[in-house]
Amino acid sequence: MAETETNIAKAEKAAPAKAVALDKADREEQQEREARPAGPTKLVHLRVRRQDAPDKPETKRWEEFKVPYLPNMNVISALQQVQKFPRTVDGKEVVPVVWEAVCLEEVCGSCTMNINGRVRQACSALVDLLSPNGETITIEPMNKFPLVRDLMVDRQRMFEDLKKVKAWIDLDGTHELGPGPRESQEQQQERYPLSRCMTCGCCLEACPQINDSSKFIGPAAINQVRLFNLHPSGAMHKNARLDSLMGEGGVADCGKAQNCVEVCPKEIPLVDSIAVVARATTKRLLFGWLLK
Ligand code: SF4
Ligand code: SF4
Ligand code: FES
Repeated sequence: MAETETNIAKAEKAAPAKAVALDKADREEQQEREARPAGPTKLVHLRVRRQDAPDKPETKRWEEFKVPYLPNMNVISALQQVQKFPRTVDGKEVVPVVWEAVCLEEVCGSCTMNINGRVRQACSALVDLLSPNGETITIEPMNKFPLVRDLMVDRQRMFEDLKKVKAWIDLDGTHELGPGPRESQEQQQERYPLSRCMTCGCCLEACPQINDSSKFIGPAAINQVRLFNLHPSGAMHKNARLDSLMGEGGVADCGKAQNCVEVCPKEIPLVDSIAVVARATTKRLLFGWLLK
């Protein structure tokens, strides 16, 4: 349903006099909003899942906000409006919503959250597409990662997984190594799409095999094994990487549901990577003793 009000300032005036501390820029913006000629103001309706701290499940709640629509706004810019004037639709002043965002161009992965039930980056989630007719936009944190607060989660497990699979190339910096092995154009083209992972967590959030009772490492780290094992220098530690995926929680735990590839914002061929790495681990399991 399209949400319009004759003047958003009315709602703000109706709120309790105790205002949040505003800095000079915020005050100017608020004055500018209040000085706008009365008339229909399109509003964006947000429904936000909140929780004050990981150890305070009793504070889990929904809060709803309406913020002024701006052309081409994304979910982050809508949340920024909430942050400036944190007042719910029923006029209650609340603590600003907490979320994480760094690059604002779908590169860092930090703003990943569930928006209208789909995991994605809030900075590239456009309000015009999510709510063409003023529909409510529902925003929740990812639920496969420990909650920090409100929409912010801790993705540390993904970085620990990168350590487990040695997702780097060792270099001995103590002496001149000269140029590394040459890499063909074909190899570069194969590796480039695999290298675009931003550790956002979408694939883990969507994967049914990632849950409290599973140790499955998930598709992002498996893809990194393929990436680094394809590199001429990275291949020096190929077997160590494969070994890290051969036990419990390794590549064999993938249930092949393919949800991961559906949600990956970088369109990384995760299912292909899983298949390639699974074949390599099987080969190592069967013939590893011969190839040592
Ligand atoms: S294909 Fe494997 S990794 Fe991808 S979502 Fe399914 S179970 Fe998870
Ligand atoms: S593989 Fe794709 S979905 Fe998974 S963490 Fe990397 S960029 Fe995100
Ligand atoms: S802020 Fe970096 S991906 Fe959204």
